[in-house]
Amino acid sequence: MTSLHRTGARTPAVTTPAPAVTTAARDAALETVRRNIALHGDLYPDDTTRENRYEIRPAIPGFEAGANRGWTTSFWPGQQWLAYELTGDEEFRAAGLRHAADFAARVHSEQDLDTHDLGFLYSLGSLTAARLAPTESERDDARAAALAAADHLMRRFLEPAGVIQAWGDLSDPRQAGRTIIDSLMNMPLLTWAHEATGDERYADAVRRHTAQLRENILRPDDSTFHTFYWDVATGAPLRGATEQGAFDDSCWARGQAWGIYGFAINYRATGDERLLDASWRCAEYFLAHLPADGVPFWDLVYTDGSEAPRDSSAGAIAACGFLELARVDPDPERAARAQATAEVLVADLIAGYTPARSDDADALLLHGVYDLPKDNGVDEGTLWGDYFYLEALTRLAKPEWVTYW
Ligand code: GLY
Repeated sequence: MTSLHRTGARTPAVTTPAPAVTTAARDAALETVRRNIALHGDLYPDDTTRENRYEIRPAIPGFEAGANRGWTTSFWPGQQWLAYELTGDEEFRAAGLRHAADFAARVHSEQDLDTHDLGFLYSLGSLTAARLAPTESERDDARAAALAAADHLMRRFLEPAGVIQAWGDLSDPRQAGRTIIDSLMNMPLLTWAHEATGDERYADAVRRHTAQLRENILRPDDSTFHTFYWDVATGAPLRGATEQGAFDDSCWARGQAWGIYGFAINYRATGDERLLDASWRCAEYFLAHLPADGVPFWDLVYTDGSEAPRDSSAGAIAACGFLELARVDPDPERAARAQATAEVLVADLIAGYTPARSDDADALLLHGVYDLPKDNGVDEGTLWGDYFYLEALTRLAKPEWVTYW
């Protein structure tokens, strides 16, 4: 990778991608999305591949195989909407619309909603259709589903702490008062609900939740905790802990990438410059802890020479985060640096982390990690890695692309 961070003096290995390289990468990715639609129909693939092949989401009690459950299903229609916007091909939009109907059914029948990830789910599953569906009634249905999801998300807002609880039933004492850095990406659903209804409760939740994360989940050395607990009775911040990282005080790579992207989009939503600063602090730490090929180990505690797996999905999320910073940072020099950095990160992913031929794998992006401590999805493709890789390619191809976040 080229020297990206402020004080770095690394030898360039990969420079910004030539247009032909990103065009070829985009074409290969679109071919895979098209093939996966044919493979899975309207069912949902599992969170990650197994040996680079997606299987249908397994059946569990109460849910049939391929059902819309869990936090990652929306990354699949998210890819279809990006593919539609890149190509104009109605096959992709029709697939995205069928999933939008399924997301409406999920929220209205209250299936598997005990999670803050309603933001990930409904930003991609419904708000895409609310803008891009061809008929007014489809757009209305998608808006109603998104608003119902936003209201469910608001039930998780805890007073007096002013945070949205991440996981679990709100009566579960093990999860009480816990939030996680990923939650920053769930805020745009509330920002949209505020814009759609004028109800200040949504905007207030975004302001207070993001302020609590900036003050507590971002550490003084600019690394981040994965998760953080607040006292539900007093609202006092208690302690950081990890769930998917190496240990409580380490820096989980994907969490740091969620920080770059999540603080940037919430700066756009709130205008609070402290969130822009928080995004850059996450960004500088991330860049300073990358190995030579520009794709992070799954936890930033590992450095060059380690045998630890990489998490390419963190690289893709970070690339989107830098592309967002390039859009929103009012300082032209910093914005230009963010753009150049993103282009290098994407080039590094294309060069070393994509299938040699599209049909070698069902994943767009290889070598991600879901949850290494639980030995879940290690060195595999992931639905979100595929989504953010395609989002980065879309942003590079269409600078006018209207964000889904
Ligand atoms: N949001 C969960 C994860 O990144 O694994």
